[in-house]
Amino acid sequence: MNEYDSDRIINSLSANPVKDPSDADIIIVNTCAIREKADHKAVSAVGKYKKLKIKNPDLIIGMAGCVAQLYGKKLIKQIPHLDFVIGPREIPKLRDLVFDIKESSSHRKINTSMDVEEVFKVSPYHKSGKVNGFVSIQQGCNKKCAYCIVPTVRGSEINRPLKEILEESRLLIDQGAKELTYIGQTVNSWKYEGERFYNLLDYLQELDGLERIRFTTSFPRDITSKMVDSMKNNTKVCRQLHLPVQSGSNRILKQMKRAYSVEWYRDSISKLRDAIPDLSLSTDIIIGFSDESTKDFEETMQLIEDIKFDTIYSFKYSIRPGTPGELMDSHVNEDVALDRLHKLQSRQREISLENNLKQVNKSYKVLVESESKNNPNEFFGRTSQNKAVYIKNINKESIGKILDITKKEAFQNSFIGEPT
Ligand code: 5AD
Repeated sequence: MNEYDSDRIINSLSANPVKDPSDADIIIVNTCAIREKADHKAVSAVGKYKKLKIKNPDLIIGMAGCVAQLYGKKLIKQIPHLDFVIGPREIPKLRDLVFDIKESSSHRKINTSMDVEEVFKVSPYHKSGKVNGFVSIQQGCNKKCAYCIVPTVRGSEINRPLKEILEESRLLIDQGAKELTYIGQTVNSWKYEGERFYNLLDYLQELDGLERIRFTTSFPRDITSKMVDSMKNNTKVCRQLHLPVQSGSNRILKQMKRAYSVEWYRDSISKLRDAIPDLSLSTDIIIGFSDESTKDFEETMQLIEDIKFDTIYSFKYSIRPGTPGELMDSHVNEDVALDRLHKLQSRQREISLENNLKQVNKSYKVLVESESKNNPNEFFGRTSQNKAVYIKNINKESIGKILDITKKEAFQNSFIGEPT
């Protein structure tokens, strides 16, 4: 979502990004507030550019995204070299804001209104003709998870009109995209004028030239049998689902206000796997939320043991301002939480590798995306299951094509392969 917003920022200014910040006329730091660490990083990133502003007083420095939304005016007060802050919903106003600042050089701006009509107005045009792209179909979030700052900083859910989604997809496909990832905080809860997410997948399948459809992030409670059927019958939908579970304990899920039980989650996974046997699953897990006990943690470990996700993104709980979690008074000791996190991550590394080793010497359809960054004789691509493959014995003409590739070697997060 942040990458997508960064592209929108670049596009809204018709800017040519420079490599070296000292060559820039404008520096915008796009920020994430999901955990405290990201939020500190954002503020220190802006600090780094103070020297450049002293050298070049015409340089405009801004902060965009969720940290800008969260602290707004406070940032302008605390960071004298910061010219403006702009929240995620206000990106369509960025261009005018920058021109305003240029004309009246002493005016510092705060744009953090949530009340913006056309939140989707500016699109990220990939003029480079990249093989894959993103299309946002939803802004904000209506779920009220107790740990999460997203509803505070991105506002409540707004679903993008179907027509706009199809138009932006068309544009990216015409510029060379073969694979599009549709994004939203709870993407599968998308609905618009009677259309539901499973209908949307049907419309997307009709787009000529589009070969692969991905979407993220899905909310477990919004997995319906219609959605499962639609995924199964859609030949373009990739065999990959990111489905954050957050915890394997019903007691913790309840406190998190996730609106499903572990049993519901397990049942959804078995329905998905029955319908789509080669589906790759990934999840997010928060460790140490509220008064998570050893037993709660063990239930999470049992869940990952049973499901055998391909990838898990796991985080130590971080208290965020203004969330219901902030008011909860029992917190897990830092060292205990860290120890649990390491246990989970270390077991998951083994599971990821075990899953991958089972795929060696089998052939998969791989969309070749680019040359490999590490090895000049290799190319980079992904399978439908979103597995990264470094491919030998092909050439540049294969970029943008889907090839049959045999996986020859497996690692925890990638494979080496060659044409079948
Ligand atoms: N602390 C730790 N992790 C968090 N996440 C969201 N909020 C927090 C928080 N306060 C994680 C969740 C979510 C992912 C994007 O970030 O697992 O799915």
